[in-house]
Amino acid sequence: MPDQTFYVTTPIYYVNDAPHIGHGYTTVMGDIITRWHRQRGEDVWYLTGTDEHGLKVLRKAEQNGMTPQEWADRLIETEWMPLLETIDVANDDFIRTTEERHLVGSKAFWQDLYDRGAVYKGEFSGWYSVGAEEFVGDDDVLDGEGEDEGFKVSALDGSRLEHVTEENYFFKLSEYQQALLDLYEQNPDFIQPASARNEVISFVQRGLKDLSMSRSTFDWGIQVPWDEKHVMYVWIEALLNYVTAIGYGTDQDAFEKRWPASIHLVGKDIARFHAVIWPAMLMAAGQPVPHQVFAHGWLLVGGQKMSKSKANGIRPDEIVGTFGSDAYRYYFARAITFGSDGSISWEDIHARYHAELANGFGNLASRVASMIGSYFDGSLPAAGELTDAEQRVVGTIESAVADADAAIEAVAPQDALAAIWRVVDELNGYLTEQAPWKVAKEEGQRERLATILVTAAEGLRALAVLLNPVMPKACASLWESLGAEPALGNLADQRIADVARWGQLPEGTTITKVPSLFPRIET
Ligand code: MSP
Repeated sequence: MPDQTFYVTTPIYYVNDAPHIGHGYTTVMGDIITRWHRQRGEDVWYLTGTDEHGLKVLRKAEQNGMTPQEWADRLIETEWMPLLETIDVANDDFIRTTEERHLVGSKAFWQDLYDRGAVYKGEFSGWYSVGAEEFVGDDDVLDGEGEDEGFKVSALDGSRLEHVTEENYFFKLSEYQQALLDLYEQNPDFIQPASARNEVISFVQRGLKDLSMSRSTFDWGIQVPWDEKHVMYVWIEALLNYVTAIGYGTDQDAFEKRWPASIHLVGKDIARFHAVIWPAMLMAAGQPVPHQVFAHGWLLVGGQKMSKSKANGIRPDEIVGTFGSDAYRYYFARAITFGSDGSISWEDIHARYHAELANGFGNLASRVASMIGSYFDGSLPAAGELTDAEQRVVGTIESAVADADAAIEAVAPQDALAAIWRVVDELNGYLTEQAPWKVAKEEGQRERLATILVTAAEGLRALAVLLNPVMPKACASLWESLGAEPALGNLADQRIADVARWGQLPEGTTITKVPSLFPRIET
């Protein structure tokens, strides 16, 4: 689909509280994937944003003596916008559900659903979780224990439940069971990974109930266009951000250029909303469904799902403050299999930082720059003939590029990094074996010395391009150290398909030592 935009989204996050690393996780992974696709030369659009309506935000604002709008505005300014800077995210757009474009687009979509007969009025009586902002079926209602004694709690996530009886509009979700099963069957990649896919399929096979889609007992939400007594149920409204942000109801041309989305990245807790309710709504409105919903796992701290309420919540700036944004991004991409739960710890971040980043990659870059500095006055020499040892480096880069590209295509950044790290290891091994510091002392070996250092510099050039989506700051610094810009241009303009082409750094390129990419950290 050459003219189609590669359009990736994160969930829009509730602004009831400040972000923790769980939120940062989804956003960083999407950023890595989209930066890679940009370096493939694709037309990319990366959207993130905030979910600002609903009871959860309303109550939090009330507890703090503010209107929900004031509360949201403040949290956006002091927490959610700065987060993107902290973790170095290059999103193309940021949508807030309190923006006019979302209001207009959501109303247009609802009117469409109504006009097409997908909506009816009824009475809802049942359980609601404000924590998860979801209706919970009787089968999933448990008696609370401990501090929840005397309350009902949700079997889905342990959140406290409230009983509600109110007039609601319903969406005819039950009519889409077969169409959804056909969708999963015909597009095995629609919901990934396999664990999420299986869970969603068996959920839909058990049968679908119509979904209450409006609320009539509070007003912090978007008014239902044909009935001012109702506001849209926050989830049904929030899902619409994926279309309202790109112009649904406000800019049809832009919308058609970008829709359908390529990948909705979500945590597995909200896979059902994205893989069941959302495609059914789109079908009901006569719109194409997204290509893929990818559900990742939990970050576990001390073996438990990390969350603010459990007090094991870690803020992104705590980690970035110590290790920097590059190491933060690298760690989450490398240490956790995207799609599975993953345990994280300070010890592990610390150990990987020193072993893989400082000693493995950073040290390689500074050694090569300093040898070219001392043996060739910082001017890249011309290489002589390549021997088997150099050919092995070339071959490793070629296969790493192909494997990393395939891994990103498969939404497996950890595999992409493993493939790229073969180049780091190969180059370190190559230098140990070739020992340029010894060759430098041998008579008549100038050309051999040049070949070794040019090979290492070319390897670093490849690494700068391949690692740029993950560690843009360190790679910019490496690009500068390699003096690559005058001959090759901007780092972000380097194409993945061109990385393995040998000999791109011209003879005479000025190589300089820059400050250590990953200085040692005492904690
Ligand atoms: N507002 C809804 C999403 C609407 S999308 C149309 C919501 N928001 S949320 O603030 O609760 O963020 C949920 C997302 O944050 C999860 O889906 C996941 O992407 C991320 N994570 C929150 N806690 C997490 C972990 N402990 N581990 C990994 N990701 C987590 O749900």
